[in-house]
Order: sequence, then C-alpha cells, then structure tokens
Amino acid sequence: MVLWGAVLGALLAAIVVCLCLPGLLRQRKPQEPPLDKGPVPLLGHAMAFRKNAFEFLKGMWTKHGDVFTVQLGGQYFTFIMDPLSFGPIIKESQKKLDFVKYSQQLVLKVFGYQSVEGDIQMIHLASTKYLMGAGLEVLNTAMLDSLSLVMLGPKGWSPDASCWHEDGLFHFCYNILFKAGYLSLFGYTKDKEQDLLRAEEIFVKFRRFDLLFPRFVYNLLGPREWLEVAQLQHLFHKTLSVKHSLERDSMSTWLCYMLRRLREQGIAPAMQDKFIFMMLWASQGNTGPTSFWALLFLMKHPEAMQAVREEAIQVLGEARLEPKKFFSFKFSALKHTPVLDSVMEETLRLKAAPTLFRVVESDYTLKMASGQEYLLRRGDKVALFPYLSVHMDPEIHPEPTTFKYDRFLNSNGSRKVDFYKAGKKIHHYIMPWGSGVSICPGRFFALSEIKLFVLLMVTYFDLVLVDPDIPVPPCDPDRWGFGISQPSYEVCFRYRLKPLE
Ligand code: HEM
Repeated sequence: MVLWGAVLGALLAAIVVCLCLPGLLRQRKPQEPPLDKGPVPLLGHAMAFRKNAFEFLKGMWTKHGDVFTVQLGGQYFTFIMDPLSFGPIIKESQKKLDFVKYSQQLVLKVFGYQSVEGDIQMIHLASTKYLMGAGLEVLNTAMLDSLSLVMLGPKGWSPDASCWHEDGLFHFCYNILFKAGYLSLFGYTKDKEQDLLRAEEIFVKFRRFDLLFPRFVYNLLGPREWLEVAQLQHLFHKTLSVKHSLERDSMSTWLCYMLRRLREQGIAPAMQDKFIFMMLWASQGNTGPTSFWALLFLMKHPEAMQAVREEAIQVLGEARLEPKKFFSFKFSALKHTPVLDSVMEETLRLKAAPTLFRVVESDYTLKMASGQEYLLRRGDKVALFPYLSVHMDPEIHPEPTTFKYDRFLNSNGSRKVDFYKAGKKIHHYIMPWGSGVSICPGRFFALSEIKLFVLLMVTYFDLVLVDPDIPVPPCDPDRWGFGISQPSYEVCFRYRLKPLE
C-alpha cells in the first residue's frame, strides 16, 4: 500500500514536472520581446500583478520598454504599451489573435456559462439592434421610468423627499443605477413595490459577489469565501432563471432576443439561467461606479458643476417636481450636451481601467509603429492596459492625474477628438470600452443611463459633500484591470429634492 502511494506520488510529481518544464526552461529567443519570468518558479510575477497591476506594469514598462513578456501563474502575457502600435492588434483577425477563447474560460469559471460558437456575434447583433439607434430610444424611456420609481418610489414625489438626506455617494449611485438598470432590462411584474424590494435584495447579493470578484478570478479566496461564491452563483442562477423571467412582462427586447436565440439553438434552460447572470454582471457592474465618480468630480469641481448645470438648464429648462409627480425629461437633450459628454469622457479616462486580452493562435509577428518587429509564440496572450499606456500618458493628456472637465472640448465648444503622441494623431485616445471585436456592445446605453441619472441629479436635486475637503479617494488596487475602478473609501454626501419656489 505504502509502496503504491510512493509510486503514485512520484508519477504525479513527474507529470507536474513534465507539464511545467517548458515554462520553467523557457528562454527568450532572438526577435522575441524581453522576457521576465519573475522571482518564483511557475508563479512568476503573479503575486505582484494581483496585488497592484498598475504599479507592477509601470515597473515593467520602465524596466523593459514598450513591449515585454511576463510570466503570470505559468502563463505568458506580452504587454504592449505603445498606443501607436495598438491598431494592428485590435484589427487582427480572430484566426491570428483570438478573443473568444480567453473570454470563454473566464465566463465558465465566473458565471458557470459554457459558451457556444457564435455567442459573441449573437450578443453583438442583439446589442446593435436593441441597445443602439431606435432600440436605445425605447430603453431610454424605460430607464427614465425606472429611475423615477427607484428614486421617488411608486407614488412619485412626496414632501419627505424635499428634506435633506445623507448617504454614502458610492452606495447611493451604485444602488440606484443597479436597480433602475436591472428593472429596465430584466423587466417588471404587475407589483411595482415587490419589484423594488426584489431589486434591492438582488443588489445586496450582487455587491457581495462584486466585492469577492477580483480575488475569485485570481483564485485567492479562502475556503469560506469559495463556498460563499458558489452559494451566490447558485442564488443568481435561481432568482434570474428563465422560468422566473417568464413571469415578468416587460423584459427588454435585448434580453428577449438573446434568450430566444439560445432556445432556438437548443441550449438547456439551466444554461440559459447562467447566461442571464452573465448579462446582469456585464450590464450592471460598471454604470453605478462610473456615476459615482462623475458626480464626485462635479461636486469637487464647482466650475465643472456650474458648467454642467448651465448646459442642463439650456437643454432641459429649470426642473422642479410637483407633489405625486415623476421626473420628466426631453430625451433629445441627451444629444446636445457637449459639456457633460466631456465630463463623462474625462471621468472614464481617469477611472476606466480594463485589461484587453487576445490569445496568439499561431506564431505571430508583431509590427510596432516604430518599424521594429517581435515574434510572439503560439498559446501566449497579448495584453493591453490602456489606463497606464494611454489614459495616463502626459504626452496625450497633459497633467494626466488632474480632472479637467473641458479636456474633451474644443475652444468653440464642440467635442475634441484630436489628440497626439510623438506628433502623430492618435486614434485610441481613451479606451474605456475596449476595442475591436470585443468592444463593449452596451456602451451607448451605458452612457445614456449615466447621463440621464447625472442630469436628473444636477437639475432636480441640491447636493453637498458632508466634508467638502475630503480628497477624491484613490482607486482600490485590487480592481485594476477589471473595468471601472472603485473607491478605496466611501464619501458621504447630503441631497434633497429642490423645494418648489
Ligand atoms: C460604464 C459602463 C460600462 C463600461 C465601462 C463597460 C466596459 C466594457 C468592457 C471594457 C468590456 C470588455 C471589452 C473587452 O474585453 O475587450 C465590456 C464587455 C461587455 N459589455 Fe460593457 N461596459 C459598460 C456597460 C455595459 C452595459 C450597460 C451593457 C449592457 C446593457 C454592457 C454589455 C456588455 C457585454 C454584453 C459585454 C461582453 C461582450 C463580448 O463578450 O464581446 N456593458 N464592457
């Protein structure tokens, strides 16, 4: 028995060594980018990357220059830091640099969803039909109704709402955007009060999952947290299930269309439930945090707040609520707000920090804008982290850490799109939505809902920070690479509906 144990142990060790040997022995070949395998065999730089990806990549960039390959937990990632060289990577065909494989593994782990061929095209088609153009106009109306319901309650304005209230700004924004976005996309039942309670319950669970998410992705949870994540996944699959969805009568055409396509392909209902969970995450994880940063920047920069308010009055007029009434809003206004648009772009520049990945499908020659060429190996990953290489580049965006509300405005008040690096016009001057095949298909709806919320807040409400001197919180370092950053502490504020004159 003991002998068998020893043999088995030796066999396992031999298998592990064989599997890991290529990684351990890997050496940089001529024409390959600088290779940094990190201090720990197999783990490489994983710990430093997970602790603070921003600082880690800054260090690697200084050490190796614009292109480098790092080992992270046994996998090799080539980071490209020169935005003038992004074009060919973003435009490259799926056959050479594949986006689907990487995302398939991630969504299986996080949502339990097993993607099938054509999923991404189906999601993008549904989004083009129903989250843009005429489809977006329908959703904007649903979003205004949902914001009214969530912010004023089912009976509309009550005198109580004109008293001052205090809350954490991050919680306030995330909670409202989540509930209104969830109800607009996932639908209502006939009982609005119940719907609100249910949306609140789902938000609480969502936030818990959200907090565990970065360490879950990096396999850093303790045993209890693993269990909690599994329970939360199960709960989301159950509460968002297709069976329950059928009880809701105003599910968005976006979601209806995608579920119908999955049904037609014979995808089992249990897998459809997991798909819905994935869509909840994609649609609700970033809008609340973005609204928080936008409102906080406005409150910290009175000149910006004044410019946005003046623009809002110009396009919407002065807004006051009569008792028992809901918000009214001219949707055409959303197309005529260059100042708010600039505030949004500046907020996303300062706070959107996704990492974009592609898998190298066959040995690949990377052509840099400088003319230099690098060989990338099949199976490695190519990664872009535009927050550091674009958003924070002082050549593209002078004083990059400062919030300038008019950074994206020309002197004549129109949208500024001309930004330069090394004397060349740069196409990707901010990349909050990713780019190319994997660009966020919900970006137009996301911007509309956030702008709608911010406009309601600045026109209908009085807002003040409890401590006007509180600094803008730094980003939580755990979340670099996961989309919109979250603050490392809460900011308290007071708000009230503007009283009737
Ligand atoms: C401020 C809000 C948002 C930000 C910053 C954001 C950003 C992103 C980013 C960076 C990606 C991944 C791109 C890549 O991997 O290359 C993504 C994917 C996605 N987003 Fe958004 N997003 C936001 C809101 C939304 C909304 C409101 C929806 C839907 C209603 C949505 C739907 C999706 C979907 C379905 C994907 C996956 C697409 C795919 O697999 O190709 N997003 N988003």
